[in-house]
Amino acid sequence: MTATKHELLRSHLQNLIERELAPDERLPTERDLAQEFGVSRMTVRQALERLENERRVYRVRGAGTFVARPAITKSIELTSFSDDMRRRGLTPGSHLRTAESIPAGANVGFALGLSPADEVVHLERVRTADGVPMCIEHTYLSAALVPKLLDRPFDNSLYDLLRDHYHIRLVRAEQSIRATVLDEATATLLQVPAFSPALLVERTAYDQRDRPVERAMSTYRGDRYAFEIEVVRPTTDGTG
Ligand code: GLP
Repeated sequence: MTATKHELLRSHLQNLIERELAPDERLPTERDLAQEFGVSRMTVRQALERLENERRVYRVRGAGTFVARPAITKSIELTSFSDDMRRRGLTPGSHLRTAESIPAGANVGFALGLSPADEVVHLERVRTADGVPMCIEHTYLSAALVPKLLDRPFDNSLYDLLRDHYHIRLVRAEQSIRATVLDEATATLLQVPAFSPALLVERTAYDQRDRPVERAMSTYRGDRYAFEIEVVRPTTDGTG
């Protein structure tokens, strides 16, 4: 009997969060939920705590429980920031902070198969979703492959620009994802407290001719990003 009530309460809350309420909307009070489902307030509190641990709701003391914004999930498909946001129903945006031509240096040069003195285009962009800062991106492109890139506007997708104006399609990438902590300057740009957790994604992307075209360091807000990776267990058992 009690299990059924628990179940009903759980599926009701799930439905509220996933379908009926928008992010930042308030859930019914503990007391109302307890009354409606004929369970104790402690039971309701436990159910809400669990949802809070799963980051599906958040609580504001004295104000109630609210629907959390879902974390943006990135798959391992080679997508652009704009693709990722649109898939979530959000409008991607970009504020260009730096656009310059500089020598590649040792690390970027190595990644792009250039000598350290070769020119690269460096872009620093704050990427937004529905106007909210999500990620800071430093992108380096081999200048020889993208002549006059700096003369073009960068308000939209870089990958679209590469495809439409340079016939460069990025088809694969080597990518690493690491946990990091935001320094004060980056935290300010992302509008989160200093030393908040973040994800550092480093990518070297190759085009349809397998040329390394882009080296990028993207710092994503840890509270809004999750990476989803499909892994497959090998079918061989190692004996043959
Ligand atoms: C992602 C990648 C970057 C890439 C960017 C392009 O964020 N981590 O390496 O530069 O997408 O996104 P867009 O085409 O929206 O500019």
